[in-house]
Amino acid sequence: MPESITITDNRTGQSLEIPITDGGVPATEWAKLLPGIWFYDPGFTTTAACASSISYLDGDAGILRYRGYPIEQLAEKSNYLEVAYLLLHGELPTEAQFDDWEHEVTHHTFIHENMRKRFLEGFHYDAHPMGMLVSAVAALSTFYLDAKEIFNPESRDKQVIRLIAKMPTLAAAAHRFSVGMPFVYPDNGLKFAANFLSMMWKTAEFRFEPDPVLTKALDLLFILHADHEQNCSTTAMRVVGSSHSDPYSACSAACAALYGPRHGGANEAVIRMLTSIGSLENVDAFVAEVKQGHGRLQGFGHRVYKNYDPRAKIIKKTADEVFKITGKNPLLDIALKLEDVALNDDYFISRKLYPNVDFYSGLIYQAMGFPLEMFPVLFAIPRTSGWLAHWIEMLDQDSKIARPRQLYTGTDVRNYTPIESR
Ligand code: CMC
Repeated sequence: MPESITITDNRTGQSLEIPITDGGVPATEWAKLLPGIWFYDPGFTTTAACASSISYLDGDAGILRYRGYPIEQLAEKSNYLEVAYLLLHGELPTEAQFDDWEHEVTHHTFIHENMRKRFLEGFHYDAHPMGMLVSAVAALSTFYLDAKEIFNPESRDKQVIRLIAKMPTLAAAAHRFSVGMPFVYPDNGLKFAANFLSMMWKTAEFRFEPDPVLTKALDLLFILHADHEQNCSTTAMRVVGSSHSDPYSACSAACAALYGPRHGGANEAVIRMLTSIGSLENVDAFVAEVKQGHGRLQGFGHRVYKNYDPRAKIIKKTADEVFKITGKNPLLDIALKLEDVALNDDYFISRKLYPNVDFYSGLIYQAMGFPLEMFPVLFAIPRTSGWLAHWIEMLDQDSKIARPRQLYTGTDVRNYTPIESR
């Protein structure tokens, strides 16, 4: 059977055979037969905007792989910085490569003093840390003017390291500011996740010693959030990057996309939802409301996964380990009942709505002491490596500037009428 499709323009009777390549049909071929007739696909639900070799996702089977490695294996055996290297370079690092990479990232964690003293301290006292992060990442481009040299490999590598290294510093700084605590400088003797926890929680002690179980859990959450192919924020990164703006500006746009409750804000929405449900007896009534179209079950459903999100499965296990240290999050029982009710209800079954990564991650973050406002920030820290891997891939593909078409549905041409005669 030929791996192709044939389309016919019924107005002219003309046909064109288009090859199916890597599971897609090139739109340039389509345009040969039908110039000026556009695919109407709001939300890009059936459009592949690029070819990519970074993450593989099979939504029906619940599979996620980074550069071919199953997420389950990486979650069990790897660490976030190694995964970041893998995403960016396509291969796992050798021992020497890893040591070098870890050293570089660790030694670029400091931010310019002006960034902290003048920029971050200029925010209103109750600024949302994600809003601060979006602006701070954009502001970094003004400190590193060489970032504009996006086709200079040396400069590119440097910005990648800076961004991955400085995200936790900016994230923790935003939090400390929002609670009126002094900024904590990075501790180069600590590993990536431990260093972040130190910058978050250190008070008067000489050196902050994070709990190893909690540090490992956070590192694991970083691995699970590092990439997820063409999600909304990665698409924002690629779209902005396609105009050849610098990586800080593109990353800031990606952060902004991640800020929304339909994307990185969903785990915050889950906690708010569970809190408003309040007790086990209210679960059924809440689900009934959702089924009547009043709100959504937060942390459920996914554009791509039509099965249990593999990341949610891993997180559910980690939650137990974290709760042994922190004590059980009182909202866990409500979450478990909600999941049980939904997974046995025809409304959710027929729409293939399963728990996604955010259903349990918020419970862990909350038990670890992170305020709700920090949840999207915690997502942005590791996703930076995914964004950058896509940015590099996009530039190496010499991709065109992102510039979709539209179907114009406005009024036809009409004459201007002066204000007094309207
Ligand atoms: N609760 C109740 N109904 C839902 C939900 C939900 N969470 N999600 C989808 N539906 C229903 C929706 O009402 C629609 O029903 P109908 O066909 O009767 O109109 C059907 O399922 C399809 O929904 P959709 O909005 O067309 O699906 P989508 O692919 O555009 O949306 C989604 C995906 C993630 C935005 C959506 O499922 C949602 O809003 N979920 C809650 C928010 C959430 O958990 N977001 C985190 C996503 S995972 C993290 C990430 O990767 O960023």
